[in-house]
Amino acid sequence: MSDALRERLVRHGQDHLLDGWEQLETGPRQRLLSQIESIDWAGLEQRLAAGDSLDPLAARLEQIVASGQLSGLPHLIRQAGAGEAATESRRAAEETGRQMLASGRVAVITVAGGRGTRLGWDRPKGLLPVMPVSGRTCFEHFAATIRTRGRRAGRRLPWLVMTSPATHADTLAYFREQKHFGLDPDDVVVFQQGVLPVVDAGTGRVLLSAPGEVAQSPDGHGGLLEALWTAGLLEWLKDREIDTLFYHQVDNPAVALAAPDVLGWHRLGRAQVTTRVVARRSAEESLGVVALVDGKVRIVEYSDLPARTAAATAADGSLLLWAGNTAVHVFDREFLEGVGSAALPFHRVHRIVPHVTSHAAEELVIPTAANAVQFERFVFDLLAFADVGLVVESDRGSEFLPVKRASGEDSLESARSGLLQLYGRWLEAAGARIGKGARVEIAPEWALTAEDVQGKIEPGSVLEGSVVLGLDTMPDQAAD
Ligand code: UD1
Repeated sequence: MSDALRERLVRHGQDHLLDGWEQLETGPRQRLLSQIESIDWAGLEQRLAAGDSLDPLAARLEQIVASGQLSGLPHLIRQAGAGEAATESRRAAEETGRQMLASGRVAVITVAGGRGTRLGWDRPKGLLPVMPVSGRTCFEHFAATIRTRGRRAGRRLPWLVMTSPATHADTLAYFREQKHFGLDPDDVVVFQQGVLPVVDAGTGRVLLSAPGEVAQSPDGHGGLLEALWTAGLLEWLKDREIDTLFYHQVDNPAVALAAPDVLGWHRLGRAQVTTRVVARRSAEESLGVVALVDGKVRIVEYSDLPARTAAATAADGSLLLWAGNTAVHVFDREFLEGVGSAALPFHRVHRIVPHVTSHAAEELVIPTAANAVQFERFVFDLLAFADVGLVVESDRGSEFLPVKRASGEDSLESARSGLLQLYGRWLEAAGARIGKGARVEIAPEWALTAEDVQGKIEPGSVLEGSVVLGLDTMPDQAAD
């Protein structure tokens, strides 16, 4: 161990990490030292010095709401209940989006750094068998959509999947085992985000996750920017003449992936960042809020927002901050390049983090309440740098069925039943009927939207049993 390294830790108040390190075997000792070498200690000190005060953006929004100065969202496109003019503009947007796809200018980015721990699923969320009848996983379902969009556009649609150390190996193995779901492996990139040390919430001291191992956690989905730079992917996208990125989270199987309308609106609106929103279900819902702050569309995370601000209502009783972030965005590649990887701020996230108290400890301490602070960057803070942040409102049951919890709202069960209802609505709009107790899933290969179903099914037909249109049964109708 070099004196310089010890001094560095002393200087940053983290030399407790070396207490008893001599007792470690040679291998773990070396690993610990190289882990310590790789950490940006000065950066950590800066983050700690910033303290635990209210996030400045949340504080500003609180002020705006309290003073009654909140303005409506500019550049808002409401999809639900659109009238004739809106339908026209939707057609124009769809046409533009289709052209973007056909000229190969679009790629999809899926952030998939989370494990399904909150769901009682100890594997990457992307491997969750989310589809209600086929049991297809999130990744299989997204891949089928990407394949279909590519086939329709006559151009392949590259897919970038960001993992974390907790999900990388499993995700990579799964993609290989599934032969990239029939996609060209050259069009699929699985890359890893960075990590940052985790500190004790009371003392600011870095925790040990095991003897000889510093506790680290993913740097948030805002780490995407740095990860894209590090892996040379912005260059890779540029070389392929891709200028538009469709971004989404792995945990929403209903996402209208690379939908031409949102791509087109983004382009026609000359936006750098476009965000799909849904109306928040309640003041307590765990959704970031999308609001206008000092002239810019911004997103304030629910955990940063004071409860009274989240619950503020207009005269008619509706939520003032009504727009919830679905975490679906469209980004311009050149805009991302211009922002630079270090520009996004860090947020403090309080979590329960099991740890050991020394390198000699044999027992893991499992706290019952949040004991630790993790530092995360949020991808939506990119909005601070955008001249035009466009907002597109979607119908909740059609495009947002997230899987967040083990049971109840936003669970695997609620998402599966939401998907069955969605497909039922598509089929009924085309004149078919779902028999009592029938469970009908629609594979992306068969239809991506309600409009796709029109004409593909005999009006008046009744669907019975458990079927997946496009994967089993009705082969004559499974054309695409
Ligand atoms: C997130 C959004 C919230 C939004 C909601 C919609 C944040 C901070 N908040 O809340 O504004 O309304 O989704 O469903 O994102 N992920 C990574 N790497 C990371 C952290 C997260 O890849 O370092 C991925 C996870 O795999 C997951 C997604 O990002 O798919 C969301 O992360 P999570 O921390 O679960 O955020 P939510 O609380 O669901």
